[in-house]
Amino acid sequence: MSGNSATLSTDVIDLVRRAHWITVFSGAGMSAESGVPTFRDAQTGLWERYDPASLATVEAWEDDPALVWGWYLWRMKLVSEAQPNPGHRAIAALADHRAVMVVTQNVDDLHERAGSEVISHLHGSLFEPRCTACRAPYHGTGTRLPAGFDITAYAEPPRIEPPSCHECLSSVRPGVVWFGEGLPRDAWRRAEHAITGSDLVLVVGTSGIVYPAAELPERALAGGTPVIEFNIEESALSPHVTESVRMSAAVGLPALLDAVGD
Ligand SMILES: NC(=O)c1ccc[n+]([C@@H]2O[C@H](COP(=O)([O-])OP(=O)(O)OC[C@H]3O[C@@H](n4cnc5c(N)ncnc54)[C@H](O)[C@@H]3O)[C@@H](O)[C@H]2O)c1
Ligand SMILES: [Zn+2]
Repeated sequence: MSGNSATLSTDVIDLVRRAHWITVFSGAGMSAESGVPTFRDAQTGLWERYDPASLATVEAWEDDPALVWGWYLWRMKLVSEAQPNPGHRAIAALADHRAVMVVTQNVDDLHERAGSEVISHLHGSLFEPRCTACRAPYHGTGTRLPAGFDITAYAEPPRIEPPSCHECLSSVRPGVVWFGEGLPRDAWRRAEHAITGSDLVLVVGTSGIVYPAAELPERALAGGTPVIEFNIEESALSPHVTESVRMSAAVGLPALLDAVGD
């Protein structure tokens, strides 16, 4: 195979070669090289006047649903136009060599489009809007941006009123977990199961500051399971993990696949 694996340490390669059941735990950095900004990156761009972390809250929704709905439609469009990067594809291909469980904090569908089965979307999905009252899934046309909408032409976030539920006429909301909300119980249970059952955890592109999600790698370490972090920068998890790989997802994960596939 290619010489990518030469850039990973032998400790990292040994850990991966010995593992049978690998859980991948991904965050926003996983999709950065697909052109989907992390919240921190986003603040340097189009949305610099709005703090994305404060738009992704119950309070923002209650104050101004049209602002929040418009922001989510923009994010859905951005993700629909993005493609999985070599990191997503390497994780999908790793499943040909090892049992791989993908647990993601991401609300995009790039792991799935790369061919992975995601066992837990801890923070929900951009593509599963639902009713605020009866929780019925919404499949109507109100998830489309208006025709001819050009996001780059907007200095202000688009204000778009959320559509109404077809069952009870209440407001439809994004199917994501906002800061301050509890995680879906099933998604959390499946994630815990994957983390505690695996013999290696790969943490990719997460700052490790969003709880309770960040508890999962901590739990693996407490149980004696090695954790390898892939992050271009030091994160809150870095001091605790078994190995830190300072490579981007799209570079480090293909290198890891090469090392296992040799
Ligand atoms: N794509 C998405 O679905 C998306 C995008 C933005 C935010 N979010 C949400 O934001 C919350 C923020 O938490 P988080 O920890 O996932 O993200 P975060 O924005 O807090 O941290 C991103 C981390 O990724 C690292 N990073 C950036 N580019 C990278 C790359 N190319 N390769 C490897 N690492 C890279 C950064 O150093 C940082 O530590 C999550 O709940 C998530 O649901 C999701
Ligand atoms: Zn309803």
